Amino acid sequence: MLNGTIQDILRSNPYPVSKKDFKARRVGGSIMYHDAEILYAFVRSLVPLDILELGAFVGISTNVLIQAVRDNGQGRIVSLDKFGPGERFKFGSESNTAIGWVGRHRSELVSDSNLDIVTMVTGDVVEYCKTLPDHSFDFIFEDTDHARRTVSALIPEFRRILRPDGIALFHNIDLRAVGYGFRDAGVTDKVTGFRIPYGSSIGMLKGSDLC
Ligand SMILES: C[S@@+](CC[C@H](N)C(=O)[O-])C[C@H]1O[C@@H](n2cnc3c(N)ncnc32)[C@H](O)[C@@H]1O
Repeated sequence: MLNGTIQDILRSNPYPVSKKDFKARRVGGSIMYHDAEILYAFVRSLVPLDILELGAFVGISTNVLIQAVRDNGQGRIVSLDKFGPGERFKFGSESNTAIGWVGRHRSELVSDSNLDIVTMVTGDVVEYCKTLPDHSFDFIFEDTDHARRTVSALIPEFRRILRPDGIALFHNIDLRAVGYGFRDAGVTDKVTGFRIPYGSSIGMLKGSDLC
């Protein structure tokens, strides 16, 4: 379980990728540098064996998780998106040229050399989580559509699949729909939120709080 403040965790597990290198790979819609620092620090601190990533997009957060698992020397990642690794897909509105057609896809970023620790799954997040065995993960990173309905449907599944000493992180919890999702699922008072300078916001739910 996590010890110390988030600052301590970040200080003792600094993200080893430079901002410049990170930015060179990042595309709009992916997590930002400070989100990456937090995600990396959590995984380094917790040393989870079974990691579930929900919402991989082009694989930016997947790469952060891979780096942390490699540096931990143990762990496996299951990475899900509704789009398959080789699929070209549209993200956002067509008029938004910054995040229009994404030519690169996550199979380019999550290379074959990482398939020993990453399993890529294609499917709907809620439907997929329903198929997972009880207590099968000790770390979950949730970054899908941030819809109220998705968040509220995922919490009961997390309650089942997350180990009691596990942690689930939710990206962009400052979006109103995410807050409503937490409220619908009755976990508002259990979520610890971190606002990230120049990044976004992350919410943490502990497995022990969901038991
Ligand atoms: C914000 S992006 C994820 C960014 C990614 N974490 C990164 O750092 O690059 C959201 C992703 O969630 C996926 N997604 C949205 N709704 C989904 C659903 N119901 N089931 C599975 N994936 C979904 C989208 O296809 C998209 O790739």
